[in-house]
Amino acid sequence: MTGLPWGRRFLMCPPEHYGVLYEINPWMNREVAVDLDLARGQWGDLVATLTEAGAGVELLEPQPDLPDLVFTANAGTVNRNRFIPSRFRHPQRQPEVDHDVAWFAAHGYEVAWLPEGVGHEGAGDALPFRGVFLSGYRSRSDAAAHGPLSALLGAPVRPIELVDPRLYHLDLTFCPLDDRRAMIAPHAWDSYGRKVVEALVPEPLFLEVEEMLGFCANSVVVGSTVVMAQCPRRVGKVLEDWGFDVAIVDVSEFLKAGGGCRCLTLALDVAIPATDGPPPSTGTSAAR
Ligand code: ARG
Repeated sequence: MTGLPWGRRFLMCPPEHYGVLYEINPWMNREVAVDLDLARGQWGDLVATLTEAGAGVELLEPQPDLPDLVFTANAGTVNRNRFIPSRFRHPQRQPEVDHDVAWFAAHGYEVAWLPEGVGHEGAGDALPFRGVFLSGYRSRSDAAAHGPLSALLGAPVRPIELVDPRLYHLDLTFCPLDDRRAMIAPHAWDSYGRKVVEALVPEPLFLEVEEMLGFCANSVVVGSTVVMAQCPRRVGKVLEDWGFDVAIVDVSEFLKAGGGCRCLTLALDVAIPATDGPPPSTGTSAAR
């Protein structure tokens, strides 16, 4: 089967309260207006495309004054029935956490907290591949998060330093496609990170800087369908040769906040097996 063993169930949040109301990454500019009707339409197209590709979509209720809640990839990191809430760098996004935690607690997930003062922005910075999580750090997540994250996930975590401020989350630079292939953007990583990824990915599709800045790596893979904001001919040709179908969804209104297709989704069905038995279940649900 072409595709990933996860990516059939996603959490998404309708863009009722979406907008570019502050600037916390280089893409955001409060003077650029968002067309909310267009955003609603684009978000609806993304849901329809994911559903048609065979995925189920669950909904997080939108909240006033939390315009970035639409980017559910940053809610936290999921492995099996465990949810590790994000610890956001910027105060503007910190109030999202209570809403994320409420959803996961109500849906039967065990909530396990990273230590206070250690930043990590969830699946936006942590993607599973071949039994490990790659986890990006620098602008948003801290290198210090990776030890505790690994203990809570019950899975190995390999830290990757993100060096280009425009590519501030790992999911802008790395996109797992199946158990051997991934779109990768070494330009965005330091030399150690490049070595780690290149050793891990047997068949990489290297992205050029321009392709990356077109949010190519920020794609959602559902079975053999790759859902992308746009697809340069060269990239499309490789994906098709590998047996994938490309589905394009215009998410222009969300790119204004620095987020693409992947950022608008959080996979709920990631299940990386524990390497050293089950994750610890004591001492992890302590209050924040
Ligand atoms: N405006 C949001 C922020 O800066 C965009 C988040 C994009 N999410 C992602 N997973 N890359 O936090």
